[in-house]
Amino acid sequence: MNFDPQKPFNDLPPLPPRADIETRPILKSCIAAHAALAELRQAGNLIPNPSVLINTIPLLEARDSSEIENIVTTTDALFRQASLNEKNADPATKEALRYRTALRRGFDSILRQPLSTNTAIEICRIIKDTQIAIRNTPGTKLANPATGAVIYTPPEGETVIREKLANWERFLHEQQEIDPLVRLAVQHYQFEAIHPFADGNGRTGRVLNILFLIQTGLLETPILYLSRAILQTRRDYYRLLLQVTREGAWEPWIAYMLRCIEETARWTTQKIHAVRRLMAHTADHVRLAAPTSYSHELVELIFALPYVRIANLVEAGLAERHRAGYHLRELARVGVLREIRAGRQKLFFHPKYFALLTSDEHDFAPYDMPEEPAPKERKGQRRWRKAHAE
Ligand SMILES: Nc1ncnc2c1ncn2[C@@H]1O[C@H](COP(=O)(O)OP(=O)(O)O)[C@@H](O)[C@H]1O
Ligand SMILES: [Mg+2]
Repeated sequence: MNFDPQKPFNDLPPLPPRADIETRPILKSCIAAHAALAELRQAGNLIPNPSVLINTIPLLEARDSSEIENIVTTTDALFRQASLNEKNADPATKEALRYRTALRRGFDSILRQPLSTNTAIEICRIIKDTQIAIRNTPGTKLANPATGAVIYTPPEGETVIREKLANWERFLHEQQEIDPLVRLAVQHYQFEAIHPFADGNGRTGRVLNILFLIQTGLLETPILYLSRAILQTRRDYYRLLLQVTREGAWEPWIAYMLRCIEETARWTTQKIHAVRRLMAHTADHVRLAAPTSYSHELVELIFALPYVRIANLVEAGLAERHRAGYHLRELARVGVLREIRAGRQKLFFHPKYFALLTSDEHDFAPYDMPEEPAPKERKGQRRWRKAHAE
């Protein structure tokens, strides 16, 4: 194989790789990653209202996956934008939010039809917000951002690219005897090496990874926060991708992806358990401190929307406008929400939940619970107590 970073890599070998990709160490890591994913799937089912996780974890994923590409925003800006859709939000935040939209639409789409080149195009168009298509002009190169040195030039020629994508697509569906997690790692390298678009390949590929897990039944919903591990080890990610091209070094690449999957599956599982604990604790607190505003549905809503508006309660059918405003102010009075202003809009922020979602830790400081009112002492009892007091 002839690899010159400056020349379009039209010799990119088709899948499956010729190397042994199911070595003993890889199969061992596979078992661990599968176990972690199975736990995540179960944890996902512990929270009965699916919008709690589907509204939040993909936003965390969107932030990190965008940051891998130096599109940097804060989780706070992203959650705000998800609630408010402000026209003047900064471009990076809007772009990261589109990643979340792409993940959602991709999820809808694979429920109808299997993953394909067309799914990839659809995803990339949403992320980039343009009618991007398979590259048909030369000039796309991957360069080291610091030095500008070219590290990889993807294949050129639309026909060549389409052929390679067709092979990639067949590999997704036909190589059933290869462990699905190994297939995930292999197809991700291949998709990135084909690099079918002028831009957006990294993010599109990472959305495809999550969709592939759903397609193969390893996840039910897009709740794995996989880009977290990749962002934390971004240099390894780039280095190992390149080593597959240069040296056919599949094993370290696959092992790397398996580790990322296992680690983030564990992290996400722990986070879900913590969210569940905080939901139960918040319900107890609201029931005692603001009983006239307590309802199970309201508690779920403020966990689906860390930034919530009166209109959200009305839309969810929880209360009419006036009453909805009262409930949110009650939750603010007892310290669960914080009222903020965003232009002309009133917004309620859920600080403890937000802190838990964005923290590396999975614990939280409990609310000061009002003590349950003590039962009244009867006259005789009081006299008896006083008589016996020392
Ligand atoms: N040596 C390499 N070979 C193949 N793909 C690579 C290599 N190095 C990086 N990549 C992939 O290219 C992506 C960046 O491509 P790009 O089209 O700019 O994506 P995005 O627009 O999402 O930023 C990286 O996230 C990575 O997945
Ligand atoms: Mg880019």
